[in-house]
Amino acid sequence: MTPAGRVLERAGMRVLVSPDHVSTSRLAAQRLSDRINAAVAERGRAVIGLATGSTPEKIYAQFVEWHRECRLSFRDVTSYNLDEYYPISPLDPRSYRSYMHRNLFFHVDIAPDRAHVFDGTVPEKFAPAHAAEFERWIAADGGLDVQLLGIGRNGHIAFNEPSDISDAEALRLPARLVELHPVTRATASADFGGLDRVIPRALTLGTAAILAARSIVIVATGFSKADVVARALEGPMTAKLPASLLQSVADNVTWVLDEAAASGLG
Ligand code: GLP
Repeated sequence: MTPAGRVLERAGMRVLVSPDHVSTSRLAAQRLSDRINAAVAERGRAVIGLATGSTPEKIYAQFVEWHRECRLSFRDVTSYNLDEYYPISPLDPRSYRSYMHRNLFFHVDIAPDRAHVFDGTVPEKFAPAHAAEFERWIAADGGLDVQLLGIGRNGHIAFNEPSDISDAEALRLPARLVELHPVTRATASADFGGLDRVIPRALTLGTAAILAARSIVIVATGFSKADVVARALEGPMTAKLPASLLQSVADNVTWVLDEAAASGLG
């Protein structure tokens, strides 16, 4: 815990608030590395779920720094990324595979064959089978010790987008190929050089696998997330705001926010 941080509780979930993006990233990195080390100590290996986007970049930079200082090893770690655009080549700089390579995999000692990202090149008729096999691999690895999450401006987690399905259905969505929500496409337009160039579909882990993680660390920073964070933490659990579904596994969830992202909390 950072000296300047505060600890809150909302809907049974722990909420840690740090002053800024840097201290928030360090706190999240610390919690994740504690989980990795505990799992390795207990059963010789750790299985972790990883996220992309701008929020985790500093978390990965902290991992790389600790790795260089010989304070953190990924030798016994297996990772699964939440999502990937579809279709996309792993060599495309906008792919999440290449994001992970740039920000983490290239710089640490994770085994390349244990750093899993959905394959954005599978033929479309095999996409459902690939999504299903990704879930089976996680299960065969003993499930996720810890899942890192970000939150989209529309409340999505991974690419589980807001929808009108029943809450019961929303809690058990499988890994699958999805259409991106208009807000998600608009947010991604800068990365793709225009809205009409955004790849409109993606492979994503479903809520079922995410919510089954033994612990979940969800990170949000900046004023642009304040409203959606407040609704996810203080509003009702609803498929219209997928991050609110974390309330269903409250005991396992830790939110790590900076003051700006926490500024909408009552
Ligand atoms: C993308 C990813 C999500 C991520 C979200 C937030 O949509 N698929 O997993 O949480 O972006 O991104 P950022 O951290 O850049 O706000």
